[in-house]
Amino acid sequence: MRSVLSALLLLALAGPQLCAALVTRGPWVGAVTENSAVLVARLEVRADGAWLEVSESPDFRGARRIEPATPPSEETPPELVRFTLTDLRPQTLQYYRVRHPSDAGRPDEATAAGSFRTFPRAGETASFRFAFGSCASTGSAHPVFEQIRAQQPAFFLTIGDLHYENIAENRRERFHAAYDAVLGSPTQRALYRVVPVVYTWDDHDFGPNDSNRHSPSRLASLAAYRDYVPHHPLPWDAEQATTPDQRKDGPIAQAFTLGRARFLVLDTRSERDAVRVPDSAAKTMLGAWQKAWLQRELLAAKDKFPLIFIVSSVSWVSNETDKRDNWGRFATERAELSDWMVAHGITGVCFVSGDAHMLAADDGRHNAYARHGGPHFPALQAAPLDRGGSIKGGPWSVAPVLPDQGEGQFGLVDVTDRGDRLDVLFRGLNQDGREKLRLEFSVPAAAGARSDHALDAHPGAVGHQK
Ligand SMILES: [Fe+2]
Repeated sequence: MRSVLSALLLLALAGPQLCAALVTRGPWVGAVTENSAVLVARLEVRADGAWLEVSESPDFRGARRIEPATPPSEETPPELVRFTLTDLRPQTLQYYRVRHPSDAGRPDEATAAGSFRTFPRAGETASFRFAFGSCASTGSAHPVFEQIRAQQPAFFLTIGDLHYENIAENRRERFHAAYDAVLGSPTQRALYRVVPVVYTWDDHDFGPNDSNRHSPSRLASLAAYRDYVPHHPLPWDAEQATTPDQRKDGPIAQAFTLGRARFLVLDTRSERDAVRVPDSAAKTMLGAWQKAWLQRELLAAKDKFPLIFIVSSVSWVSNETDKRDNWGRFATERAELSDWMVAHGITGVCFVSGDAHMLAADDGRHNAYARHGGPHFPALQAAPLDRGGSIKGGPWSVAPVLPDQGEGQFGLVDVTDRGDRLDVLFRGLNQDGREKLRLEFSVPAAAGARSDHALDAHPGAVGHQK
């Protein structure tokens, strides 16, 4: 009798492992604002009939039922499901779980449930923290992702080389498989289920090494991003794409707001010329449409947001004009943008980049690419999440720091809104949370008080290395 009971007990314990999990990849959360979010997951079965339960209570009391959004295209795999959440309350923890008729009334708690926090109201005074970094081997289970989660950032900006698949054939399923591999990592999966992600790519995850707008896999990559990534609305799709074909053919640049900071996230791959093309006024990193979008966004943000983060896979600060892949190889376009920013009084900008496998920062002193000096905005650099070190770009006011063997590095940014000014603290950390580098600066909140020299670097702004 006892052995029968223990056999039954064993069977009960093994139950969840015996039935396949409903959710095989994700969910990952993105596009979070003060009142909305997007979740994407891959299910074991076709997603027809799936729904999402959302509640402010961990026991799902009074849960709302959310039906799936229309798939981005007819070729989106039927197992991928996307939920658009609206009418959420600001700064509120939201619990969610994916449901499907096949889960027999019992959601798979182990894989289908998670939570995230909505942002504070856009435009209102709010302090916040975000993490950023780039460059992780495909499916990396590095503990650096656990450390990022432990820091409880409002979101994680993953800005390139999310994987190293170097896909050179125009097959969308290759990119889907790469996203599957990323979300198959236990440490990444745990992170993206509870920390909203903002993702833009670099070369190895957009296409092959050093990929650009000529990449043979460009269209598949653009389409797979729209299929699988929870992203903020893509201005290209809203403005330019009136047919499904055009939707596949535009950059993934996107913008969002957190408190009194505006984030402009660039696509530095799908529109760019080959890096080896000799520099000229025609050579472009962004392409004409994206550059015009960036300028429109900067003008719109100018008197509204004291702090504007421009996010780019590759670094801005670089004197390298002949060997490395960064804005130094697009020096004419960089000078054009710098002149334009100075002429239009664009201030309060902070540049964020990855790609170079190192931590570094510049307080703005080396950022003088405009004809008559300026724009002198600071630049923050953080990578690699799990790869070996490399030095690119610069000179930097805070010297580059390379990872030790096996070490993962990322950036953590604390923005403290003090009403009359916003203090920004950037720290480069490793997987143990050990600080390896820092830069601090402030921007005044009043538009009139800002100039390109108004970046008030704190004593010790040059930072320190440990
Ligand atoms: Fe990389």
